[in-house]
Amino acid sequence: MNITAAFNDAMPGISPGVYSAEDFRAVSDIVYRQAGIVLPEGKAMLVYSRLAPLVRNSGCATFGAYVLRIREDDQERQKAICALTTNHTFFYREAHHFEHFRDEVRPALVHRLEHGGKVRLWSAGCSSGEETWSLGMTLLGPDRQAGIGIARRDVRILASDIATHALAKATAARYPTEDLKPVPDALRRQWTVPDGDACAIATELRGIVRFRTLNLLGEWPMKGRFDVIFCRNVMIYFDNPTKERLVARFAGMLAPEGTLYVGHSERVTGPALDHLAPTGPTVYRRKAA
Ligand SMILES: C[S@@+](CC[C@H](N)C(=O)[O-])C[C@H]1O[C@@H](n2cnc3c(N)ncnc32)[C@H](O)[C@@H]1O
Repeated sequence: MNITAAFNDAMPGISPGVYSAEDFRAVSDIVYRQAGIVLPEGKAMLVYSRLAPLVRNSGCATFGAYVLRIREDDQERQKAICALTTNHTFFYREAHHFEHFRDEVRPALVHRLEHGGKVRLWSAGCSSGEETWSLGMTLLGPDRQAGIGIARRDVRILASDIATHALAKATAARYPTEDLKPVPDALRRQWTVPDGDACAIATELRGIVRFRTLNLLGEWPMKGRFDVIFCRNVMIYFDNPTKERLVARFAGMLAPEGTLYVGHSERVTGPALDHLAPTGPTVYRRKAA
């Protein structure tokens, strides 16, 4: 059986006149070139189900017509890419990273802030914000007054993602109470407040976070270096050359001795290893310049 026939067999009930193997390949090529996300043939049904509502709303009768639309219309292409991102995340995911940050990284950063220095953290690929808020709560710590003191210093967390719908949720900073369960009690009590049937992130913590729409493959407008970068469970969607280019860019954006955290199934490889040394599972430290 040829590839097109196999594709059609895998799409029961979907007319090849509406969505064909060529349409799928065109979409996956656009998403790869723009956002680095690899969509193998096994994702053909997922692409169909995520894009079908956009195809309908755009007034296009077929995926082929929609492909032509997203080639020319930047906004519609951005919508299609957002729809094809995977935004799964949760509070305190991979808790050992927050424990490492608390024990190995935070003390020096707090000391610097207390002596008038500045501290910059980046949650890159933050999705709907759970990672960012977990990091922020860990930074401010379990003592409310001390945490408010930290928040008043020159400290910022940049939280970025390509998916605007996920960022909207992150910015709203309100989550079902259940979702906060993985966060240690001492942090949750200080940095969240009950809000109806949900929980809102405390204003002091919200005040130090800036959310930005940012494609990690595009230009980065940030000028300064970061003391800490979290980029977890983002590179799993990229191929090796894209990952290696990205971690080399992260290495360039880290201050000397800065720390990079990657997801549990991710590793730093390639030229970035000239500048980054592993200091624990999926934790890397920028070598002194
Ligand atoms: C699975 S979530 C990970 C969220 C969080 N970092 C965590 O570990 O729980 C992956 C996120 O990466 C974002 N993403 C994928 N490709 C991206 C790109 N090229 N630029 C920026 N963000 C991207 C997606 O929109 C998604 O929100």
